[in-house]
Amino acid sequence: MNAETTLILGTGPDDLAQAAALLREGHLVAFPTETVYGLGADARQGAAVAAVYAAKGRPEFNPLIVHVADLAAAERIAVFDADARALAAAFWPGPLTLVLPLAAGHGLSSLVTAGLSTVAVRVPAHPVAQGLLAALGGPVAAPSANRSGRISPTRAAHVLAGLSGRIAAVVDGGPCGVGVESTILGLGPARLLRPGGLPAEAVEAALGRPLLPPEDGTISAPGQLLSHYAPAAAVRLNADAARDGEVYLGFHDRDGDLNLSPSGDLAQAAANLFDHLHRLDATGRPIAVAPVPDRGLGRAINDRLRRAAAPRPSGPSSGPPGGG
Ligand code: TXA
Ligand code: MG
Repeated sequence: MNAETTLILGTGPDDLAQAAALLREGHLVAFPTETVYGLGADARQGAAVAAVYAAKGRPEFNPLIVHVADLAAAERIAVFDADARALAAAFWPGPLTLVLPLAAGHGLSSLVTAGLSTVAVRVPAHPVAQGLLAALGGPVAAPSANRSGRISPTRAAHVLAGLSGRIAAVVDGGPCGVGVESTILGLGPARLLRPGGLPAEAVEAALGRPLLPPEDGTISAPGQLLSHYAPAAAVRLNADAARDGEVYLGFHDRDGDLNLSPSGDLAQAAANLFDHLHRLDATGRPIAVAPVPDRGLGRAINDRLRRAAAPRPSGPSSGPPGGG
């Protein structure tokens, strides 16, 4: 491990220059994006990418999302067809990841793509992520900055709770605005591989046709293990109220120990989701969750909640295997 003490950096130019220098030296730096905090490594350095898997305690090499500054940088690593270009024009920078064929001379470590012929690429909108990409001048591979299988981080404190002492630095840019990971699309034809921070309805409106579901039995979303984003405690979904001993995560007019959005606003609920789960998990009690409508950002929220509630082979207290 390359760090005994994890530096906490601010977001000024000197901080981002230091963060970029650490990445260039092959160290790991967590940083904010508009969705969740990412655990960044220079995507061109195999040893740095391998260190991501080690720091997360990820058992297998799942392919990682590559973050770049803009469409021009994305086109140096991936091949864009007309749909991909239209989606990039409509939604980048923003919470959309496109899985595209690797371009010749892409320069990425094969560990980033886990040996696949495609790469997942995204242009983050967060100014701190953009500042870091500019300071590095290269692609950054970054899964969510949590221990494997645990809740994704939306604050620097969440990152430190899981990874302090295991990574070189975290850039503290405050809480993430979107709160759930990016929407992932496969293209040719367009498929929804992971619901996320960009509602599928918005993608369908831009494409002018419905998205297809993921193909069955393929490796299209190999990181999508069922038990994922999991708190240490058990989670019970679609609960109208808490039972004895449970804490209750409310939504809209179903109030609880915490409420994802008292006004029923799905964007606010997404932004609060992981932070509220972290806080309720700290009580050590099982968590009951109010129903959340399955439309717009509600699809991403329900996807993460289903994974949080999924049975875990090793039991709730030892934490789930796999995942990102
Ligand atoms: O919002 C986000 O997307 C966050 C922030 C940090 O940008 N990142 C994130 O990365 O969620 P990660 O590594 O936790 O999720 C990567 C997902 C996995 O489900 C993986 O299987 C899928 O992207 N993926 C990556 N490359 C792929 C490929 N070539 N084909 C299909 N799926 C791929
Ligand atoms: Mg993840």
